[in-house]
Amino acid sequence: MDPKQLAGEQAAAYVENNMVIGLGTGSTACWAIKKIGERIANEGLQLTCTATSIQSEKLAEQFHIPLTDIAQVSSIDITIDGADEIDRQLDMIKGGGGALLREKIIANITKYYIIVADESKYVAQLGAFGIPVEVVPFGWQRTAEHLEKLGAKPTLRKKEQETFITDNGNYILDCDFGLINDAASLETSIHNIPGVVVCGLFISRAHKLILGKKDGSTEEIT
Ligand code: A5P
Repeated sequence: MDPKQLAGEQAAAYVENNMVIGLGTGSTACWAIKKIGERIANEGLQLTCTATSIQSEKLAEQFHIPLTDIAQVSSIDITIDGADEIDRQLDMIKGGGGALLREKIIANITKYYIIVADESKYVAQLGAFGIPVEVVPFGWQRTAEHLEKLGAKPTLRKKEQETFITDNGNYILDCDFGLINDAASLETSIHNIPGVVVCGLFISRAHKLILGKKDGSTEEIT
């Protein structure tokens, strides 16, 4: 079985009746969404679910998962989401799919945050992936200059030759900082730049990592 499927489906087993659930984004979290849909259909689970992207909202609708707007949800029992890199302390880089802002807002109100990934995402040190930084379109070139002063090489994200636009109408600067020694203070420094909406460093947020492996096994790391 696909390691992403293994991890995603295993995470869905943590969902219990009457919980409030955050639905993550990406090719691993989508397996958890599908499994939650199956469990609702087979077990009659009553859930309140809210999604981290328009893409995940559409997927949830496809699987008849009832969705509630974040405006009505002040606390989430479990969120299941993916990561682009995750280290031994469970600090992460996210945002490869561009959903980082909604993912961070949802992570911020989540009591138990489960990350699902294949083993290639589990790294000794964060940084090789680069850090996605969501910025407002106004003056993004100036915001990019400030990121350069922090040591980044920023690239404006494109999709099919066009500037990539997030679900929130913003741009993404993919920032190569090299390997990162102090991710917590870098997150703070990036967030202090006017024009930055959010960065893809997620520090001290994850409670559990479920890794799917090529040999068909899984590992849970807390
Ligand atoms: C979306 O913006 C991201 O944070 C995803 O959660 C992350 O990119 C993981 O995606 P995959 O599971 O597709 O690798």
